[in-house]
Amino acid sequence: MSIQVLGTGAYVPERIVTNDELSTMVDTSDEWIRQRVGVAERRVSVSENAAEMGAKAAQKALEAAGITADQLDLIVGATVSSDFGCPSMSAKVQELIGAGCPAFDVNSACSGFLFALDTAAAFVARGGIRYALVLGAERLSRILDWTDRSTCVIFGDGAGAAVIAPGENYLASHLYTQGGESVLSIPLGKGNSPFYEKDVAPLAVHMSGQETFKFAVKQIVGEIRLIAERAGITTEQIDYIVPHQANIRIIDLAARRLNVPMEKFVVNIERYGNTSSASVPISFDELVRSGRLKRGDLIALCAFGGGLSSGACLIRW
Ligand code: COA
Repeated sequence: MSIQVLGTGAYVPERIVTNDELSTMVDTSDEWIRQRVGVAERRVSVSENAAEMGAKAAQKALEAAGITADQLDLIVGATVSSDFGCPSMSAKVQELIGAGCPAFDVNSACSGFLFALDTAAAFVARGGIRYALVLGAERLSRILDWTDRSTCVIFGDGAGAAVIAPGENYLASHLYTQGGESVLSIPLGKGNSPFYEKDVAPLAVHMSGQETFKFAVKQIVGEIRLIAERAGITTEQIDYIVPHQANIRIIDLAARRLNVPMEKFVVNIERYGNTSSASVPISFDELVRSGRLKRGDLIALCAFGGGLSSGACLIRW
């Protein structure tokens, strides 16, 4: 089906915030965060916005693919934490890397990279596109409530990208949306309209942790099975699974339910926390650069998040 991945790239900001540092800001502890979430430290951007981080990840993906920005025919990005409503994060990336192609964002929260990749794959299948850039870039630190211990300990900033081209290596994909804001939402506040009557929560990540947890495990397990079935393979034949890095216990439980050994899962949540739409492409890039991949390996990407949304795809390397 339609595409191949030519190269990947990732970027995280320099500033490391450890659990111990967070413990000086909210009532939490290194032990609680490691045990309940699996995060030891995360990166926080002190000056770069989502697009600036996205552009750095994009440059690395372009280098890995062996092409230049002016060869791109399309950029599809995902973010929920851009500093701008307009221009889109992808439009700003286009400017920063010196590309001249159409660029737009999709918003599917932490599943965003899967939605962006599938959208770009559909454009490639339509024809007329030689190279497309797909990315997820997030400065979540700007939308977190840093006094809320139930959310601020989980997330981090960063960006990941991939360059794709026409090919035959996108074996199956699935996207899912269950609309509603009761489990997970990021309200933007009400602005200063004198006409606004409704009460709106302030800008922050609002999350029911346990509901999200259950949704996450169900979606990962169901969608990995589904894409394997669609591609005509068994889940045992998948060589690597690149999951959204939201909670090590979610990954662990999904691995046990799928009966897939943890060694097949790419895990970096300890170092970066949950970087939303950047999480899957950062992890994918780590796998690619680890040197572990062999030609023909089967890689499943999967994510879940606000929307509610989830997505998975199967790529042959
Ligand atoms: N430090 C210490 N204690 C904390 C804490 C923190 N950072 N955050 C919450 N707690 C406390 C709670 O107040 C609660 O205390 P209580 O028992 O006195 O009421 C206790 O820990 C247990 O809280 P609970 O919410 O039941 O914990 P949990 O085991 O469900 O873990 C999450 C909470 C958020 C880590 C977990 O539910 C989760 O990861 N869910 C999925 C979230 C996710 O994937 N989000 C991203 C989606 S893209």
